[in-house]
Amino acid sequence: MSAGVWAVLVAAGRGERLGGKRPKAFANLAGRPLVAESLERLDASPWVEAVVVAAPADWEEPTILLAEELGAGSVRAVVTGGATRTDSVRAGLAEVPADTAAVLVHDAARPFLPDEVVERVVTALGEGWDGAVPALPLADTVKRAEGDVVGETVDRAGLHAVQTPQAFVAEALRRALAGEGEATDCAGLVEAAGGRVRLVEGDRRLLKVTTPGDLAFVETLLAAKR
Ligand code: CTP
Ligand code: MG
Repeated sequence: MSAGVWAVLVAAGRGERLGGKRPKAFANLAGRPLVAESLERLDASPWVEAVVVAAPADWEEPTILLAEELGAGSVRAVVTGGATRTDSVRAGLAEVPADTAAVLVHDAARPFLPDEVVERVVTALGEGWDGAVPALPLADTVKRAEGDVVGETVDRAGLHAVQTPQAFVAEALRRALAGEGEATDCAGLVEAAGGRVRLVEGDRRLLKVTTPGDLAFVETLLAAKR
């Protein structure tokens, strides 16, 4: 199912929790903009035919230049992202040709993207699912609290932390995003539209860079890899 898979890389967030002068996608990670990691990995993936990047407003040009510098020939469009993640996915999806079979959506905030995970989510689509998402079962005990006061311990059976890249049958994703709906991930909207979404094995290295500490941790992962 490698033919006909387009990736939408959402990189348009401001990175408020990270802080810093630039948007998170352009935060310095081991000497390069954070978005360079996932862009390079999507470009190199045999499962991905073409890539659309949703960039922060006023960062479209630097994003195009970065793609050129990386020699990322599969980048077909750089669009301006929206006010929310879902809007940024909508903007990217608008550039995906109508006859595309499947769409992969990935957070630029997750720089370490193992190709095995791309393979797992794309392969699952070939088995008849509307969507496939990488997930890790929760290992820690889960508590609901108000501030720092514990209200209750939540039964963690069946609970998973869900990551990106998430793969969807293009038509199912378009339908799910057609309204005004908002969700923290695309699968949430596909589920709400009645789509059947499957969990595949996630990867700890796919952690999302949210705080400066996460950035430092991902740098150690990258250093170990090189
Ligand atoms: N994203 C986006 N457009 C938005 C908001 C988020 O493309 N309007 C993207 C981010 O660039 C990121 C992913 O969605 O790759 C996950 O979002 P998150 O980690 O929350 O990033 P930010 O919104 O940038 O960070 P913060 O919430 O701390 O401001
Ligand atoms: Mg955010």
